[in-house]
Amino acid sequence: MTVPPALLSHESTEHYTPQYIIDAVIACIGAIDLDPASNSREIPNVPAARHYTAQDNGLLQLWNGRVFLNPPFGPGVERWFSKLFQERSVGRTTEAVVLWKAATETAAWKTLTAISCRVCFPSSRIRFACPSGEAGPGPTFSPALFYVGDEPKRFESAFGGIGAVWVVPK
Ligand SMILES: C[S@@+](CC[C@H](N)C(=O)[O-])C[C@H]1O[C@@H](n2cnc3c(N)ncnc32)[C@H](O)[C@@H]1O
Repeated sequence: MTVPPALLSHESTEHYTPQYIIDAVIACIGAIDLDPASNSREIPNVPAARHYTAQDNGLLQLWNGRVFLNPPFGPGVERWFSKLFQERSVGRTTEAVVLWKAATETAAWKTLTAISCRVCFPSSRIRFACPSGEAGPGPTFSPALFYVGDEPKRFESAFGGIGAVWVVPK
């Protein structure tokens, strides 16, 4: 049987973060200043102070403050992590949580873990929401959440209930 690509969360760019993950992000960083890969500025899924959509091209904008990033998955995903690296290096991004996957064999994983100090491996698969608002089908990949910042204890306490939090070796 052929499964339509839209049902495979790793092939769709429109897989929205479920509320319990957003709650944990806010518990960790206090508030979200920026969602640089947003579905909409008018009806955003993530309650950030500022949103960049595909029309804005978040990759070309400045990423100020506390960032939550659930990037469009796909072959170009590493660009989002390189951008986060740049924004963090110049001090614009003060803290970030990234929702991506445990693709440990990829260059994108290496780029992202080079700037992260903690990774949470959820103990159950995340059911991303669809644009309709309904919970989508179970994803075909193992998700992971990454913390970039100087307060790893806050990440541990916010995400410890979601899964095992690992220290990224440097
Ligand atoms: C995985 S979804 C995440 C949506 C939302 N941030 C969330 O976490 O629920 C990625 C979103 O990024 C948007 N997107 C794609 N390319 C983009 C770009 N260059 N700049 C900003 N957003 C983009 C897609 O339309 C999609 O809504």
